[in-house]
Amino acid sequence: MADNYLEKRMEDYRNQPPTKRRVATLLKLLRANRSYRGYDTSFTVREDQLRSIIEVATLCPSARNQQVLRFRPVLDAEADVVLKHIRLGGALPELHLPFAGTEPRAFVVICSTVPDSHYVSVDLGIVAQSMLLRATELGLGGICIGAFDHAEIKEALGLKYDPLLVLAIGRPKERIELCSCSEGESLTYYRREDIHYVPKIKVDDLILK
Ligand SMILES: Cc1cc2nc3c(=O)[nH]c(=O)nc-3n(C[C@H](O)[C@H](O)[C@H](O)COP(=O)(O)O)c2cc1C
Repeated sequence: MADNYLEKRMEDYRNQPPTKRRVATLLKLLRANRSYRGYDTSFTVREDQLRSIIEVATLCPSARNQQVLRFRPVLDAEADVVLKHIRLGGALPELHLPFAGTEPRAFVVICSTVPDSHYVSVDLGIVAQSMLLRATELGLGGICIGAFDHAEIKEALGLKYDPLLVLAIGRPKERIELCSCSEGESLTYYRREDIHYVPKIKVDDLILK
């Protein structure tokens, strides 16, 4: 990099005494960046916050650098339209999430200018996670929503491209905890006493021998 940012960061890191080395900020962000299905509706997400979240797309890798994804911020009255056409918490149908009064009030609808393909999906995943990490950095939270009525959202928002994924963004109002599990155990998220638990396969079982 022109300003040697990475070298400087590595030098700073190496110069710290081992006991003082802090956990990397990225790990903190990744841990905090959970999929939230309940939000504080008294908090209003601003347009500039959505713009700043969308802006991370200008920093993301892209297959053949084609940058085929486009982003539609959704706020205010339009949020009601999107809300009608998304489905949250498919693994907990009895809860009918989101709970009344905790609905997301801001969204980013991610579209593609070309037909969906493997590489479009890879770009989509990279951008979506990067955007959610940025939201987390801003003190917000969100969720990827793949279960939505594509045609209805396309029409209601007047989109000229097909929507691939919806991100909800807001100030989270849920307690979520990760729990470690082994390969073969249930991966279904569950709730106990208002805590949402998400099983994650432990690293030893992720590494192929
Ligand atoms: C591509 C993608 C699509 C998803 N679609 C939905 C969805 O339609 N509704 C929903 O409630 N959660 C959806 N999720 C959230 C997952 O359920 C969530 O990532 C998973 O339960 C793990 O929780 P975590 O993100 O907190 O680790 C989606 C996640 C991804 C990555």
